[in-house]
Order: sequence, then structure tokens, then C-alpha cells
Amino acid sequence: MTELDGQVAIVSGASRGIGEAIARSLSEAGCSVACVARDAARAAAVADTLESEGRGYACDVSDPAACADLVAAVDGELGPVDILVNNAGITRDNVLVRLKDEDWQTVMDTNLRGAFNTTRAVARGMMKRRAGRIINIASVVGLTGNRGQANYAASKAGLVGFSKSVALELASRGVLVNVVAPGFIETDMTSDLPEEARVALFERIPLGRLGRPEDVAGVVRFLAGPAAAYMTGQVLVVDGGMVMNG
Ligand code: NAI
Repeated sequence: MTELDGQVAIVSGASRGIGEAIARSLSEAGCSVACVARDAARAAAVADTLESEGRGYACDVSDPAACADLVAAVDGELGPVDILVNNAGITRDNVLVRLKDEDWQTVMDTNLRGAFNTTRAVARGMMKRRAGRIINIASVVGLTGNRGQANYAASKAGLVGFSKSVALELASRGVLVNVVAPGFIETDMTSDLPEEARVALFERIPLGRLGRPEDVAGVVRFLAGPAAAYMTGQVLVVDGGMVMNG
């Protein structure tokens, strides 16, 4: 018996990186996991190798109708959704004056609107059942800002405001909404960093190493579980100490 036995989780962007690690971690905790990615085969490749029951679903989170269909399909095939992890995210980096309208819009549509689409789709069911956990993956740059990432940082800061608002709305129905803000995690998203920049980064990280997807997944598992039953509207920073406020 593990702490999330019999629960159903949706993890967006689960085909690789942090999302894959979250799917594996929730599966080890006993969840049936719906692994969501734009590509069905990639989602299934992860889902088929999970410890507990898993299923792959193709869904572009920026499409509201697709998100509603996704939640209905998961409900029918795995059961009502107990846990939603909004992890799908993209970058289109450039300095402000070179940032194209399209770079702004696609980042907003995936990172911020995507979380809205899926959260709205699960909210009614969770409210009715008077239970649910929603965990949104933001970023430390949403808290601090970052040169060359005005679009991405705005989307992640937006996710924090969105999460706190929804946490307030849903608290009385037993639905908890929290945010995890990772620092620099080694995934495909960050793989093309030049060696010099990597060394400079180490110097900014008190724990002396880049993060691993599992470092984020462990905190998500905590937020999804019974130990976090009295937490909502919080932002947990997972960055090896890189950003310390206050
Ligand atoms: P990644 O690029 O390795 O994986 C992103 C995942 O999201 C992929 O599975 C991709 O298929 C999926 N995805 C992208 N657009 C989608 C869409 N429209 N619909 C459905 N799925 C979509 O990225 P990584 O590094 O694993 O990042 C995961 C999350 O963590 C993202 O939200 C990212 O912004 C956030 N993050 C990552 C950090 C890092 O250092 N890697 C730091 C802080 C936050």
C-alpha cells in the first residue's frame, strides 16, 4: 500500500523530462497516470513503462476543446481525476525587441492558457467530489524575471497568480492548488547550454549542481499526497538554493 493508491492523475507534457519523472513518481506512489503529450506514441511509450496502470493521451493543452475531451476520456477509462499536474511548457527565447508576436502567443497559449484549459476541465468534478490536487509547474524566472525570456517569465508569473486565485476559489470545496517553481533542471529544454554558461550557473547554485527531473518530481509527489493536506496557494521553489528571497 502506497500513499496515492487508487488515485487518478493527469500529467501534461509527460513524454520526457520533468513530466516523465513526475508520471513515474506518481505511479510509484500508486496512482493510475494519464500521460499527456501532443504525440500519442510518445505519451504511450512512457505510460506503458510505468509501475502502476498508465495510459497515453494525445492532447495539445493550448486547445480548450481537446482538454475537455481529454478529461472526459480519462474519467471514462481510468476514473475521476484526483490529481492534475500542469507541466507542459515551452520556451521561445529572445530579447524584447526581437520577440515576435508568435513567440509571445505560443508561449502564453501553452504555458498559461494550457493550465487554464485543463484546470477548468477538471474543476467541476473535483468540486463535486470535494477533493482534488492541482499542481502547476512554473519557474523561478516567473519570480525573478530573466533577460531574453520576457514571454516565458510572464507566462510563469501568470501561472502563479492564476494558481493563487483558483486556490482561493476552490479551498472551501477541498481542492488544493499549489505551484512548484524549479530552478535549472537538466532536460531537453536546457540541453543546449554552452559549457561556459553551465559553469557560471554552478557558481550561482549553493547546492553545487544542476537539478534533476526527479528533484522536481519528489516535491510534486509530496504536494499530491496526504502530508500536504494543509497547504494551498503556495509556491515551492526547487532550485538548489539559487534564488533566495527575503
Ligand atoms: P521539455 O521540453 O523536456 O518537456 C516539455 C514537455 O511538454 C514535452 O513532453 C512536450 O511534448 C510537452 N508539451 C509542450 N507543448 C505542449 C502542448 N501544447 N501540449 C501538450 N504537451 C506539450 O521540458 P522540461 O524541462 O521537462 O520542462 C517541464 C516544465 O518545467 C515546463 O513547464 C518548463 O517550463 C518547466 N521548467 C523547466 C525548467 C528546466 O530547467 N528544465 C526550469 C523551470 C521550469
